[in-house]
Amino acid sequence: MNSKSIKIKDKEFSPYIPEAELNQIIDQVAEKINTDYQGKEPLFLVVLNGAMLFASDLLKRIKVPCNVSTIRVSSYCGMSSTGEVKEVVGLTEDISNRDVIIVEDIVDTGITMGHLLKQLKVHKPASLKICSLLFKPDKFTGNYPIDYLGRAIPNEFVVGYGFDYDEFGRNYPEIYSIKE
Ligand code: IMP
Repeated sequence: MNSKSIKIKDKEFSPYIPEAELNQIIDQVAEKINTDYQGKEPLFLVVLNGAMLFASDLLKRIKVPCNVSTIRVSSYCGMSSTGEVKEVVGLTEDISNRDVIIVEDIVDTGITMGHLLKQLKVHKPASLKICSLLFKPDKFTGNYPIDYLGRAIPNEFVVGYGFDYDEFGRNYPEIYSIKE
């Protein structure tokens, strides 16, 4: 485990979730999905850019036949939510009658995921589930379940393993949290 703090732009971050723990978390999430989707062919919709690293590690552990596609939506600028309604872009796959699993990096206020759910439901998938690596329950304002959750965290800003601070820091193999 890397025990060193990192600096991204003007902020310092401390090691928070090491690679070994991420691997354990992802093993557990994948096992649940593999069990629940026996006999099915789910379509994973990976939300770019944040869920890239999580999705690549998760998908390597999926044992049922599946399809993978990507979508984009952005609601974050720097360190605070803009609260704007954003469109789902890049949905090229026909999701009607499919068992869809949205793969997201984090559900924070839940506003982004709320928009995603609403816009994807219009296409009438057979089922629509959420898989998120992290969740900030203290900030969540949504009224939907997170079907496959890696880990809940306190209301702290994190970077690394796909998470960015102003588009920097996504490439670190572990997760860091901001130093106060
Ligand atoms: P929500 O709409 O408030 O749930 O925000 C979701 C999006 O905000 C996520 O997909 C992330 O891109 C971003 N986000 C929320 N918390 C963090 C964080 O701690 N670090 C980096 N990005 C975050």
